[in-house]
Amino acid sequence: MIRLDNVVKRYGDTTAVDGVSFEVPTGEVCVLIGPSGCGKTTTLRMINRLIEPSGGTIEVDGRDIMSARPEELRRHIGYVIQSVGLFPHLTVADNIATVPRLLGWKDERIKPRIGELLELVGLDPDEYAGKYPRQLSGGEAQRIGVARALAADPPVLLMDEPFGAVDPLNRGHLQGEFARIQRELKKTVIFVTHDVDEAIRLADRIALMRDGRLQQYDTPEALLDHPANKFVHDFMGADRALKRLGRVLVGDAMRTDIEVARILDAGDIDRDACGDARFVYLVDGNGLLRGWVDCHDLDEGRSIDDAVTEIDWREASVAPDISLKDALSTMIGLGFRSIPVTESGTLVGSITLSSIEATMTSSDSHITQLSGETLSSEEPS
Ligand SMILES: Nc1ncnc2c1ncn2[C@@H]1O[C@H](COP(=O)(O)OP(=O)(O)OP(=O)(O)O)[C@@H](O)[C@H]1O
Ligand SMILES: [Mg+2]
Repeated sequence: MIRLDNVVKRYGDTTAVDGVSFEVPTGEVCVLIGPSGCGKTTTLRMINRLIEPSGGTIEVDGRDIMSARPEELRRHIGYVIQSVGLFPHLTVADNIATVPRLLGWKDERIKPRIGELLELVGLDPDEYAGKYPRQLSGGEAQRIGVARALAADPPVLLMDEPFGAVDPLNRGHLQGEFARIQRELKKTVIFVTHDVDEAIRLADRIALMRDGRLQQYDTPEALLDHPANKFVHDFMGADRALKRLGRVLVGDAMRTDIEVARILDAGDIDRDACGDARFVYLVDGNGLLRGWVDCHDLDEGRSIDDAVTEIDWREASVAPDISLKDALSTMIGLGFRSIPVTESGTLVGSITLSSIEATMTSSDSHITQLSGETLSSEEPS
């Protein structure tokens, strides 16, 4: 657990952080967000004592950080620096090995750890271990930054705009990987970003700051539906219903009881699958998605070729680990009212516009239950 109590940082007359208090339970992700200069980096760097607080207390796992030696503290807190900050003269492997070497790990232990971490962040160890930072793309460098922070398996991770320097597509990819890694490793994380969608997707709780002060600390749903003041409301943006879809994974909302026709030998398909449905998905003998069948056409006596529309799962399906928001935008792009869900091409379910609608309605009632408080639209004085 990380606990900040009335934390203050002053630089002369400037108060960069002004009485901030919040708690991050063990294994949760807190996303720290707010406009440029609001004090995010300063708050983060006080937790590992790269900046000394002017007031208040900070505890990490029940221990006041002022009672630990800074170097000792930092070995238990992974840190991903804003704008990556890899050592340019060190290879990827040596960058990742920085903290384990400080901790005195033997080479026999460090080498496999480097391979393990590169695989964890989705890079081939044989290809990447010997590269230098200048030979990496922005997204690859960000992954190495994350691998380096995880190297000694610290329970706490501080990440300062870890995906800030990559294009939106790669960013979505890195977010998905971060979510996967976090489900596996369950670190206690404080993650700084400017990007509201990123915050909504990754946070268990969001801490929204402005001018050094905490405006609201709550779940993404609560910030969207019960903003504490007008600043929070405006910062979270107008398309709240759509943003909420960014919280739900396709795999959690998809239908799995779908009718499927199989391709049989001799170019036929099992027509019985049609039943009452107008369309059913078509898979091959290995369960790979191949297209869909218009059952109506079959009933009318048309040929299989006429009744089947072939599709490429890479283009016309979605993965279970993306958000409903991203699935919806793919559906709109393709003009589909429903879309198959595949894992490496294997059909595992489907998402329909009506199931997306149902998710929006049910999350509404869920939120109403969670938060009994009425919404105040007043600015705090
Ligand atoms: N060493 C310093 N001396 C004086 N003022 C500082 C110092 N470091 C930060 N500040 C001021 O403190 C405030 C908060 O800075 P901080 O870097 O924490 O912002 P941030 O929220 O991380 O911004 P960004 O989103 O741009 O990274 C800013 O107004 C900044 O100018
Ligand atoms: Mg910053």
